[in-house]
Amino acid sequence: MKYIRYESKDFIGTLTINRPEALNALNGETLSEISQTLGEITSAGLRCLVITGGGEKSFVAGADIREMLNLMPQNAREYSKTGNRLMNAIDDFPAPVIAAVNGYALGGGFELALACDIRMASENAVFAFPEVSLGILPGYGGVKRIAALIGAARAKDLLFTARRITAAEALSLGIVNSVHPQAELMGEVLKTAAKIAGNAPLGVGNVKKAANAVAGLTAPQFTEREAALFQECFGTQDQRNAMSAFLEKRKPAPFTGACTTVTMPTEL
Ligand code: CAA
Repeated sequence: MKYIRYESKDFIGTLTINRPEALNALNGETLSEISQTLGEITSAGLRCLVITGGGEKSFVAGADIREMLNLMPQNAREYSKTGNRLMNAIDDFPAPVIAAVNGYALGGGFELALACDIRMASENAVFAFPEVSLGILPGYGGVKRIAALIGAARAKDLLFTARRITAAEALSLGIVNSVHPQAELMGEVLKTAAKIAGNAPLGVGNVKKAANAVAGLTAPQFTEREAALFQECFGTQDQRNAMSAFLEKRKPAPFTGACTTVTMPTEL
């Protein structure tokens, strides 16, 4: 891969967008390398994925403006859909995804961070939707996601004015979960990732599915969906082991993530 670095350890994957000469701007090749990487790691038993930017200055400085300059309208439509497919794939990634926002998160970079489940930022992070200052609008699903996250009025302020906000303001708006000195960001992100990875993978994966389903379903539909996800967790080795361990006042065995139902002695 030219613009992506990927490594994994202890069930935690780290995907680094590494195109520092353009502050990690997303050109077509970078988008397709991220998609390919996500496709390859989806079934790798990962329990948490971290996405960050290479270098110390930028998470992602947006979609590639050089590439968009002469885009014809019909191609722009496809350009938006391609970006949206990637953001939706992050939303639907089976394990939680943490954005480690280590600098500029502008335009498509802000949208990428918003597609992640959790955002942790360095003190030097800067967020903005500069699209209207470039004659366009955010095209990777950021409008929907920012409005869902902070409410329509606050979202429209950012979308209409294109103003830049600091990590501290992003924290106060509820856009980021936490802010850290730049040198400590990855350590803190990996601590959070390790906490997630230490929990039952099926429970974590299914609670992500439930949380993501809230917006699109009616209350009765959500109840059905939640019950089905709840049901899936029962009878698994992880559920039986963890609950037995609690009742027997001992530490549970490490979670395996196995989805198959175990037969317990009481059922023989
Ligand atoms: N696309 C292409 N190249 C970019 C880029 C982008 N989004 N952002 C930065 N670069 C390039 C610059 O052109 C420059 O390249 P050269 O060295 O070849 O000139 C290099 O990265 C370094 O950038 P600067 O010299 O500008 O660095 P700076 O420190 O002075 O400024 C910055 C940093 C404030 C992030 C500034 O680069 C900037 O404003 N970038 C554009 C941000 C932006 O508008 N993003 C939104 C794009 S639109 C979008 O994302 C649409 C969508 O929703 C799909």
